[in-house]
This record gives sequence, structure tokens and C-alpha cells, in this order.
Amino acid sequence: MRLEPVTGGIGADVLETDFSVPFGDRSAEQLRRALDQYLVLFVRDQNIDRMRQKQITAIFGPLSRLPYVEPLDDDPDVVAVLKEADEVKVGVFGGDWHSDFSFLECPPGGSVLHAVEVPPVGGDTLWANQILAYEALPEDLKTFVNPRRAVHLGAPYGVNYAPPEKTRSGRSIRMTRGDPTADIERLHPVVRTHPRSARKALFLNPIYTTRFEDMSVEDSAPILARLYAHMTRPELCCRHRWRVGDLVVWDNRTTLHFAVNDYDGFRRLLYRTTFAGESPV
Ligand code: SIN
Repeated sequence: MRLEPVTGGIGADVLETDFSVPFGDRSAEQLRRALDQYLVLFVRDQNIDRMRQKQITAIFGPLSRLPYVEPLDDDPDVVAVLKEADEVKVGVFGGDWHSDFSFLECPPGGSVLHAVEVPPVGGDTLWANQILAYEALPEDLKTFVNPRRAVHLGAPYGVNYAPPEKTRSGRSIRMTRGDPTADIERLHPVVRTHPRSARKALFLNPIYTTRFEDMSVEDSAPILARLYAHMTRPELCCRHRWRVGDLVVWDNRTTLHFAVNDYDGFRRLLYRTTFAGESPV
């Protein structure tokens, strides 16, 4: 296995590795370490089926199912991230900076996407390194975030805070909205430690974080805005231009990601699997 960084800060191409055949223990551990180090792994030209994708996902942790997003009819472990060519001027799944489902007690450890159909141009995905974001924080913000917890809320799925119709994803992503359990506030540390690498990362979510503990939404907003601007600075990011057969794995504990919605008129289909994480500490 050869690893080639794609930027100075995040992401690596995995080269000279065939993901269509089972990995031995040594290669699997090498892959987990690569993810700990680079946070996002890109593998080109992988001709794999959904069963093999699930096996690859399980290298990183037990398979986990998503809240509120309906999986494939014939496979509850796989979600089709799909936008049809005629779904224009609608939101896209993941079309804002976020980590996945941080309003859960145990947010996912990470996810895997496999590209089945991609637009000729556009539809890229960006990731931002939250370990570097933490390390590069100005001193005043570091002092502010270190002992603190923040409130995460499954707002886009809840009853009280469901988003307006026009910002919702298109019909091809089937979501169950209006779930009262999504209206429960969940406290997580603003700085979390990765369970394997022991590295510290910022854990705030532009979609789901509503405020800091013991602070109002209004008082939290300007500080969150300053933090989000810092957390998504270009030097912390990588951007992936998808090709059919690409397999991408990312660490959800230490990254944010963003699906760019700039390909109206073209079909885009990726299969998505997820591995479990733990309660952030
Ligand atoms: C997501 O999982 O947030 C979607 C990523 C993508 O479609 O690029």
C-alpha cells in the first residue's frame, strides 16, 4: 500500500492496493492507521459491489445505520446518495459544512462513499481537518473552547425546528422528518480526543450545533461564526473531484465535509455506508 498526500493538511490517495479482495489483519491495521493520520482516504478505480463496500467499511468499525435517512429497500446498511438530472434548484444531501449526526449520543465514527455515476463537471466533495483547526486556533478561542461543551440538536429532522421546504434535499434522498426525538438537545465537548490517535479536534457542527452550554443562542452565535470561519479555512481542506469507481473513506470525528451542489441537470449516485463511533470525550 502506497499513500500519497493530496494536500499539505488533509487527505491521501491510497495507491497500489486492490480493495476488491479481503484484507489481512496487517493491511487492515495499516489502513486504519492511514485514516488516523490523513483523515480522508481516496482510492480510484474500485470495481466493487455493495457487499464488498460493507466489508471494507467494517475494517474501521461496526457497520452503523443512519437516523432519519431511508436506506435502500433491499439493504438497510446502504444509503443511495442520489440526485437525479431533473432535480434542479433543490438542496443536496450534505450540502453545507457538517459532520454526520453529531446530535446522537454516539455520532458515527466515519463513512465510506463509492461513486457509481457522477456528473461530467461539478458535484465535488470537500473535507476540513478539525485537528489542525484546533491546533491553529488563536489563543483566546483556544482558552474559550477548551473546558466547554456545546449543544447539538437534530434540528433539520425535528418537529420544532424542521427547515423550510425550499432548503430540503430533493426527492431522491428519502428522509423521515418531524421526529420528536430529534428535538432533544445533546451536549458534547467542543474539543474531543480521537480514541485511536489521541489527537484533539474541534467538534462543532454548523448544521447541528445551536449554542454553547450555559449560553444563549444569541450570545453563542458570533463566537460560533468566528469558529466556523476558522474551521473551514482553505488550508485545512481538500476537495475531491469524483470519478466512477472512486472509493472514499473519512473520519467523522475529526473532519467536516461539504457536498457541492453545482451539477443541476446531471445524475449523481454514490453508495454510502457508515461505521459506528463512540460518545465523544
Ligand atoms: C454526505 O455524506 O454528506 C454527502 C457527501 C456527498 O454527496 O458528496
